[in-house]
Amino acid sequence: MCWSSRFQQRICFLLCHSLFLYSSFLLGQRYVVYSPQLSEEHPKCTCACTPQNLRSSEVTPALATARFAEANIDKSDKTKYHNYHIMYGPALGPFLQKPVRLLEIGVNNGKSLKLWQRLFPNHEFIAGVGYGSGTAVQKSFKRMLTDKHVLYTGSQANSEFLSRILEDVNGKKFDIIVDDGSHVPWHQIFTLEYMFDKFLNDGGVYIIEDVETSYWDRPGASLYGYPISNAGIGKQGNVVEKLKGVADTLNRGMLLDPTFSILHGNVDHLMSHITFSQNCVFMNKKHQEDWKQAEHNTVHNYHNPSNMEPTRNDYLQYKSTAIWDISGMERTF
Ligand SMILES: C[S@@+](CC[C@H](N)C(=O)[O-])C[C@H]1O[C@@H](n2cnc3c(N)ncnc32)[C@H](O)[C@@H]1O
Repeated sequence: MCWSSRFQQRICFLLCHSLFLYSSFLLGQRYVVYSPQLSEEHPKCTCACTPQNLRSSEVTPALATARFAEANIDKSDKTKYHNYHIMYGPALGPFLQKPVRLLEIGVNNGKSLKLWQRLFPNHEFIAGVGYGSGTAVQKSFKRMLTDKHVLYTGSQANSEFLSRILEDVNGKKFDIIVDDGSHVPWHQIFTLEYMFDKFLNDGGVYIIEDVETSYWDRPGASLYGYPISNAGIGKQGNVVEKLKGVADTLNRGMLLDPTFSILHGNVDHLMSHITFSQNCVFMNKKHQEDWKQAEHNTVHNYHNPSNMEPTRNDYLQYKSTAIWDISGMERTF
């Protein structure tokens, strides 16, 4: 072969190779931007005890925390900035190898959806709610990414939109719901009150992230274009202040007032635990069957007159101040 044709061949090879690399790059970009599903470019954990192989008894909170950090290959702000792996570990450990159904409100670029897909390798279904800013957001109500991963577009403060999601999943509830959406305190309570009963399975966990906004007490504070009103410690625009009331409604049996509730629709009556941590709150839903006896006991045993019974004088005064709506609430249900 003459020198010039060898040269031509080499140029041709270089051109094809560059074209191949460039199109892979474009495909890769498109993939990262629009499809929050795992790709082979991010290998799964290869250590001996992959999450699929672990037994429940082996999943300690510390291990779940480590798994969470490992799963955040795409560097969502959950571990990088918020250190949520530390708080999430104890809450999510029991779900690690289960075929979970998870819904996350707030999809910016899909990084956290990928984290969930890795953290729960046996997941049945993972859904995200995107709205406003973010590359993963689109105009249509629903976008199937794979048969197990779906993206809905709409506001968490719109009950019609939320009811459409429920219809779309045929009323099938979720095990884990994460609110990483607007972070507006009244939106956080609105969505909790709307979803806790209808969307969350018994034994499931509901997480509100980024309650930091509840402490933004500077006049004019806002996020994603929404005003943050009446926030601050001790204020009624504070989601943590609102949820502190659940600590008392969990003990309503001891107050001899089984109807005492501080959340719309009595959703606090469906809670078994509430955990406050740094910048987030976890609420677990009762296993109704397990709780039947415990609730029967509070109604029937704690009502026996005895010198142990509370006078309720303080309680009756407290109750009149304990029930209030979070500032800004625009309830449409
Ligand atoms: C903190 S980012 C979520 C980050 C996300 N977990 C991720 O890693 O991609 C919050 C997202 O919630 C969106 N958002 C704003 N208002 C919302 C609303 N009313 N309902 C739902 N999401 C909203 C914002 O546009 C933003 O994309």
